[in-house]
Amino acid sequence: MTTRETWGTRAGFILAAAGSAIGLGNIWRFPGEAYEFGGGAFLLPYLFAILTAGIPLLLLEYTIGRKYQSGPPSAFRALYRPAEGIGWWQNGIAFFLATFYAVIIAWALCYVFFAPGMAWGDDAGAFFGGEFLQAGEPLDFFEYRPIMMAALAAVWALVLLIMAGGVRKGVELANRICIPLLVVLFGAIVVRALTLDGAADGLDAFFTPQWDKIGDYEIWLAAYGQVFFSLSIGMGTMIAYSSYLRKRSELSTTAVTVGFANSSFELLAGIGVFAVLGFMSSESGAPIDELVGTGGGVAFVTFPTILSQMPGGAFIGVLFFATLVVAGISSLISMVIVPFSSFEDRFGWTRKKSVLVLGVPMAAFSLLIYPTSNGSSMVDAVDFAVSGYGLVLGGLATIVLAFATGKIKSLAAEANRTSMLKLGTVWYACLALTSVVLVYTLFRSVQGQIADLSDPAVANELIYINWGVGGAMILFGVVMTVVLYRRPLPERVEEEASAPV
Ligand code: ALA
Repeated sequence: MTTRETWGTRAGFILAAAGSAIGLGNIWRFPGEAYEFGGGAFLLPYLFAILTAGIPLLLLEYTIGRKYQSGPPSAFRALYRPAEGIGWWQNGIAFFLATFYAVIIAWALCYVFFAPGMAWGDDAGAFFGGEFLQAGEPLDFFEYRPIMMAALAAVWALVLLIMAGGVRKGVELANRICIPLLVVLFGAIVVRALTLDGAADGLDAFFTPQWDKIGDYEIWLAAYGQVFFSLSIGMGTMIAYSSYLRKRSELSTTAVTVGFANSSFELLAGIGVFAVLGFMSSESGAPIDELVGTGGGVAFVTFPTILSQMPGGAFIGVLFFATLVVAGISSLISMVIVPFSSFEDRFGWTRKKSVLVLGVPMAAFSLLIYPTSNGSSMVDAVDFAVSGYGLVLGGLATIVLAFATGKIKSLAAEANRTSMLKLGTVWYACLALTSVVLVYTLFRSVQGQIADLSDPAVANELIYINWGVGGAMILFGVVMTVVLYRRPLPERVEEEASAPV
């Protein structure tokens, strides 16, 4: 029989859940997505998705995790035996997500050291793509960049050290340090950004809706994808984290607090980034839409360019990239815990065994594929498979399962046993609506992908990587379900918590 840890305090869990949510998605991904998909017009689907899909799904995942006190495969199996594969499939999602997410943290770590001397000189774009990534052809694997490898190895060493500490002395402690640090670092950046000349023009660009885009299904898929990525749902993380809650823990206000903290941080990141873009536009005379790149473009090209022109830019640069590192680490550990909790709960593994048998190979895979000349193309390709489809499908599968097994009411009752806000008709309606929206947007998006595949002007090798990664995750889920179908869950005892959580 094995013993299972719990969070030390309620605040510890809230900080960890917020630490998981607040990450590169808020700073590196959100501003670019928002701008690409209609500025202010993106904020409507985004807010709609937070309220009707994000928070309700967060509650569903918390409830499943707390009720079954297990990582995703065992939790899904307890809900419905053949559904164990959904949990293993989510392990695949967490694996691919964690292994590419770590490399973006590694880029940011390198930039912490580049910032004091503004190593990018006059042309941050040429520096990032040319000198730093030395970007080559998408399929030229294994051409390594030593600085990036060293930074990536450091990121993984730190993460595995935290994981080795367990739930309270590792994950909880790390978040107790990361979250206050994040608030201070990021607060300083936003205040500085808002006091720059031209900041108001940037905010105008961010908030002004491009209404012609609102009917576009791509905006809706992007908004749902962003919310899932940002709240860390659909990837098994929240089931894993809440599985370490005591059975009497409160859930509803926790979900609202985490959702609110995450969105506030995200909007603040959008405001900070666009205020800075406004400044750059006023300096260079270039329109803001020419300055915005998506994803890496904003953080690693646009931002450094602006830092070079900004009074105190070197200092702000160190703060900014350090913020990315801290936010990223607290999210990365929540992805790594998915396979850790899954194997520990399913096979009775110790934490030490998980670090050696899961953590080290994950780090090795990440080091093998990403710190290379095609690393940036691979990040984009895998990000699309994981965030564009994986998470959204992962969330959809959880909702469908809860309804199809008829367990949705008992799950609501389980949450209501301790929750201040009672779950009922509104919750069911939100989840049902979410599944309809997701089915529609996914259907349209797959149609678009199939059209791309047959269009030689668009099709390239990366589309096959998208589909390959998607297929591999599903295959893993199916194989594990078949292999483990007759194998019962191990027995275990729970550790007593010193304080009520
Ligand atoms: N929720 C994490 C983020 O926003 C994955 O980066």
